[in-house]
Order: sequence, then C-alpha cells, then structure tokens
Amino acid sequence: MSDLFIDSAQHGGQLGEGYGRAKTEGADFSHGIALYLEKVSVWFDSFRALNDLSLYIDEGELRCIIGPNGAGKTTLMDVITGKTRPTTGTAFFGQNYDLAKMSTEEIAEAGIGRKFQKPTVFENFTVMENLLLAAPRDKRVKKSLFSRLDPEAQLALEESLEQIRLKEFVKKPAGLLSHGQKQWLEIGMLLMQRPKLILLDEPVAGMTDAETERTAELCLELKKNHTLVVVEHDMSFIDTISEKVTVLAQGAILAEGTLAEVQANEDVIEKYLGR
Ligand SMILES: Nc1ncnc2c1ncn2[C@@H]1O[C@H](COP(=O)(O)OP(=O)(O)OP(=O)(O)O)[C@@H](O)[C@H]1O
Ligand SMILES: [Mg+2]
Repeated sequence: MSDLFIDSAQHGGQLGEGYGRAKTEGADFSHGIALYLEKVSVWFDSFRALNDLSLYIDEGELRCIIGPNGAGKTTLMDVITGKTRPTTGTAFFGQNYDLAKMSTEEIAEAGIGRKFQKPTVFENFTVMENLLLAAPRDKRVKKSLFSRLDPEAQLALEESLEQIRLKEFVKKPAGLLSHGQKQWLEIGMLLMQRPKLILLDEPVAGMTDAETERTAELCLELKKNHTLVVVEHDMSFIDTISEKVTVLAQGAILAEGTLAEVQANEDVIEKYLGR
C-alpha cells in the first residue's frame, strides 16, 4: 500500500500549481435534455453496430434500454463515453458538450460516469481505498489520505458509502466482497466523480435475487439526483425500476414506451421476446 502512494505532505506547497483542473462550467441542461444522440451510426468495418440511432434522454430521467445480444447497447454506451466514435451523426451532453470531440477523460470530467459490464474493482485494496482511488484528483500525484481530500470529495465519499451500503466493510479487501457488493462498490467509485449522468451496463448480471432487489433500490435512490441510463436483460428488474423503456435491435430503436407497452409491441415480440 504505502509504496504505491506518495504522501502529499512531501510535496508541500508544490501541489498548488496545476493541481486540480479548472472546474468545467458544467453541462447545460437548460432545455431539460441531458443527452442528445442524433442519427448516430457506428460501423465496424462492414458491420453496422448502430444504425441511424436518435435518442433523447431528459434530465432526471431513468431510461432503461433492453434488446437482444448484439443489439448495440454497449456500443451505445461506448459512443456516449467516447470509447467509440460515431461514424456519422452527433452526440451531445447537454447543450454544450460535443461528445464526439472529447476524450474519455474529458467526458468523465464533464459529468458522465459509467459502470462496465464486468466489475473492475481493485481486489487487493479495501473498499475505502477503492473509493479513494476513484476520487477526482491530479493523476500525477497519487495520494490516498482521507484527511487530505477536499471537503467536496469527503462529502462524495460519505454519500457514496451511504448509498452503496458498504459502510461496515470499509476495511475489507474488495476481493472478499460478494459479486453483488463488488458491483455496488464500482457504482460507489463512479459516484466519487459526482457524475450527473450515470450509465449502468447490466448491473444485476450474476446477482442473487436479494442483490438484484437491492440494486433496484439503489437505482431508484440514484434517480433522485441523477440522470440514469440502465441496460439490462433482467425483465423483473426492469419492471421494478423502469419508467420509459427503449428497445434496441440491430442498432436501431424498435420501440419506446412503458415496459408493458413495448412488451405488447408486435415488432418487439417478433424480434426480441419471441412468441
Ligand atoms: N470493436 C468492435 N469491432 C467489431 N465489432 C464490434 C465491436 N464492438 C462491438 N461489435 C459488434 O457490434 C454488435 C453490437 O455489440 P454490443 O456489444 O454493442 O451489443 P450489446 O447489445 O451490448 O449485446 P449484449 O446484450 O450481448 O451485451 C455485436 O455484433 C458486436 O459483435
Ligand atoms: Mg452489452
């Protein structure tokens, strides 16, 4: 542990210059829309993973995205987070951030946080250390001292721990957590960045029923002050958390509406649910 981190005290006043990036002015949600995707296509060689997709997510919305394997759900998240560039079309976060022109780091700093399909916590580090590692800071100076976190980061830490309900496990190595707890820890890590928009890719895959239920509660809590986009195959989970559901198939939107509405849609039955 100790050799990984440099005690910031050694650096004294040197941290001042260039330490902490200039605060971005923040995403402009004045039109009530957090995310605009317009006619986005993604080609991988001759394969079209997203096909002229237009999607608008309102600020404060919890949008569920469902659809068969290979529909393009993860690719959609890759486009939003800058991992994959749209071949054509535009992607905006609020009125002001053109996602296609930003690096993945810039997009994260602008307020988009993502949880990948597989948990990527640091198994040998404790819950607390994982959260501290996720705190925004100047990447050149690795420091882990709780007392040195700025007040905003301390608040984020306390709130994250509260929301993911892992307070009693702060000293436990993440490798010893259950699969569900690891997923929650990863959500806690992304909360450390204080995102405005949270993307969750299959958050309940591999979870027990109790963990799935707890994750649904967590999503509903997060919805109180975040915009969320959740991709899942688990329909009972979607049923618990969903308002508006978007069905994706072959890179395009097949249907949108409540879960009951899309489940009754003929195209959806044909191409996704099966008869
Ligand atoms: N980097 C890539 N290069 C080539 N093809 C890719 C690449 N990434 C994704 N694909 C293809 O694009 C399609 C959409 O993949 P994607 O991972 O977005 O699907 P998904 O809806 O997330 O599926 P799942 O439900 O299985 O996670 C798939 O056919 C996949 O093989
Ligand atoms: Mg996927």
